[in-house]
Amino acid sequence: MSDIRIIIMAAGLGTRMKSKTAKVLHRAAGRPLIDYVVDLAREVGDDKPVVIVGHQREDVQKHIGDRARFAVQEKQLGTGHAVLQAIDLVKGAREVLILSGDAPLTRVETVRRLVEEHRRAGNALTLLTMTLDDPALYGRIVRDADGSVVRIVEAKDADEKQQQIREVNAGIYVFGGQHLADNLKRLSTNNAQGEYYLTDLIAMLREAGKRVGALIATDPIEALGVNSRAELATVEGEIQRRVVERLMQAGVTFRNPATVVIDSTVSIGNDTVVYPFVTLEGDTRIGNGCVIDPGVHLTNVVVGNDVHLKSGTVAEDAIIEDEATVGPYAHLRPGTKLGRHVKVGNFVETKKAVFGEGSKASHLSYIGDADVGADVNIGAGTITCNYDGVNKHKTVLEDGVFIGSDTQLVAPVRVGRGAYVGAGSTITKDVPPDALALSRVPQKVVEGWAKRKKQK
Ligand code: UD1
Ligand code: CA
Repeated sequence: MSDIRIIIMAAGLGTRMKSKTAKVLHRAAGRPLIDYVVDLAREVGDDKPVVIVGHQREDVQKHIGDRARFAVQEKQLGTGHAVLQAIDLVKGAREVLILSGDAPLTRVETVRRLVEEHRRAGNALTLLTMTLDDPALYGRIVRDADGSVVRIVEAKDADEKQQQIREVNAGIYVFGGQHLADNLKRLSTNNAQGEYYLTDLIAMLREAGKRVGALIATDPIEALGVNSRAELATVEGEIQRRVVERLMQAGVTFRNPATVVIDSTVSIGNDTVVYPFVTLEGDTRIGNGCVIDPGVHLTNVVVGNDVHLKSGTVAEDAIIEDEATVGPYAHLRPGTKLGRHVKVGNFVETKKAVFGEGSKASHLSYIGDADVGADVNIGAGTITCNYDGVNKHKTVLEDGVFIGSDTQLVAPVRVGRGAYVGAGSTITKDVPPDALALSRVPQKVVEGWAKRKKQK
């Protein structure tokens, strides 16, 4: 459908969101609402749809960038007035498809069916409608005795009888390009809201003897627009449901799919098992055969294959390679990279720390600004003292190093290949390869001391 031009209306304020952020930039499942609609337009066949911007237009334009062209509607005088601002940018188009920037759930198949119906029937205008139990504030579809659409009556203009009509306007239209251009300028504001209604074009075209058709959407949720936080939550829930469904089709197991929160930007490989109450956000990519335990929260984390992330692990801007094990309750902060077979255990925090293959920090450590080689063993309670109150300094542990429990590594410091550090040491100077470094106070034993004390 590459000869179709697409207009996306996105100039409205979104008063009911009660927000400083433009409505179409609010996020659902990790992406701004407008992104879903721009993607849809490009999938349908227009590489550069026209987005009509108004409120906070600098933000909206900056976010969309060169994925679209823009028309500016300075004052929001209605949907008809909005489309008028864009009409010159779609001049000469055979068909013009109109979408709303705040309705991100429309499926590409539905739009394609609408366009096909439009072409098949040779219509001047074909719109998507839906049947709702509660038609609420949607425009009512008025049909004549033989069932053809004669006009749309907006909820605020509808009389009592028209209020009862349950078939409503989804707000998605395909126009013959010339029919749209010829009639837009003839719209008036003679209605309850004093706006230029795009929907008045239906009656106008019918009165001029043109064909107007409607396709009834099978799933009304596809037309759901976001006007409030409650609708944003409904839209988010639906996108999440689709994300999980797609992942299950791709071979991912969910122990309890209703409890997970997964952005639409996340990918997961087959045979990975996801436990309840997992949150995966941003550019997170998980490989095959992993186990993601309850309460894991990942943001922009790349995970290899056969990785086990145990309960309560939190990670951000990190890389975890194949067959690593992390947690329970580990905290991987930005710049962490764990190599193959690495084990990071319970209550370990890392930051800008690179671990080579097979290295371990199994319990209760803080490893920051550190370069850890391969096969390094970091004992329980080890701390890198990386911050002197002004600057951050680096700790280097070369391959095969053994750090005894409860060691403080005062950076900058380097422990050479294969060296040992005795438990309880405070290491302030570099340790040469293959050496033993020990800085604890020698143990003193006073025989019989405790017995004598009790006898006093
Ligand atoms: C509109 C339809 C209604 C339909 C409903 C579906 C009209 C007159 N009514 O109503 O029949 O059932 O959508 O959701 O078209 N916008 C602009 N500039 C404006 C006004 C609106 O860009 O001056 C944009 C909004 O940002 C939004 C879209 O157009 O993306 C729809 O506007 P909205 O005010 O939500 O339309 P409704 O009154 O709900
Ligand atoms: Ca309105």
